[in-house]
Amino acid sequence: MQITRTARAVLNGGVLALLLCAGAHHASAEPVKSAPSPIYGVTIPDGYRQWQMIAPAEEAAPLDELRVVLGNPAAIKAIQNSTLPFPDGTILVKLAYKRKQSAEFETATVPGQPTTVQIMVKDSRRYAATGGWGFGRFINGQPADLAQHQTCFACHAAHVKDRDYVFTRFAP
Ligand code: HEC
Repeated sequence: MQITRTARAVLNGGVLALLLCAGAHHASAEPVKSAPSPIYGVTIPDGYRQWQMIAPAEEAAPLDELRVVLGNPAAIKAIQNSTLPFPDGTILVKLAYKRKQSAEFETATVPGQPTTVQIMVKDSRRYAATGGWGFGRFINGQPADLAQHQTCFACHAAHVKDRDYVFTRFAP
């Protein structure tokens, strides 16, 4: 009887420790949510850094940036099937860095300081007024100001309306 009670106490303790551990793990594994972007309420999506690359890009002076556009699984599937417009749930993320000369090799250009993380989220009802896309530009994890977010759709619409407002083409 005594043994059983002790065993039960140990078991209960173990379960409690496990729950506490799971709780702590959950808290630490959960990235801090960015504040939502103005106008659109877009946040930085969890796990985006593990998404597939759609294409790299380079931006000339004065920005002098290297960029890479990533897509969530819905985006990659749409690209593979040549689905346009992109379906709801598509998320595109553009990571931008200052470009700099490699310290180890003269002709190599490598990413320097990260500058922005830019996001487009497809939700055709919520963002009906902007081609179905919600926009977010983040600097050090925080959204850029309202004025910057007023420019996003106009530029994308002016140049790539017929490609569902998306510039980037898949680089095999
Ligand atoms: C003056 C034009 C212009 C404005 C304004 C602009 N973009 Fe873009 N955007 C581009 C161009 C050009 C590309 C493709 C080349 C590149 O990746 O830099 C692009 C690419 C993107 C991409 C990758 C998907 C795609 O369309 O290729 C995202 C995401 C994005 N922009 C988000 C934004 C957000 C968010 C804003 C507003 C805060 C914004 N853009 C404002 C020109 C613009």
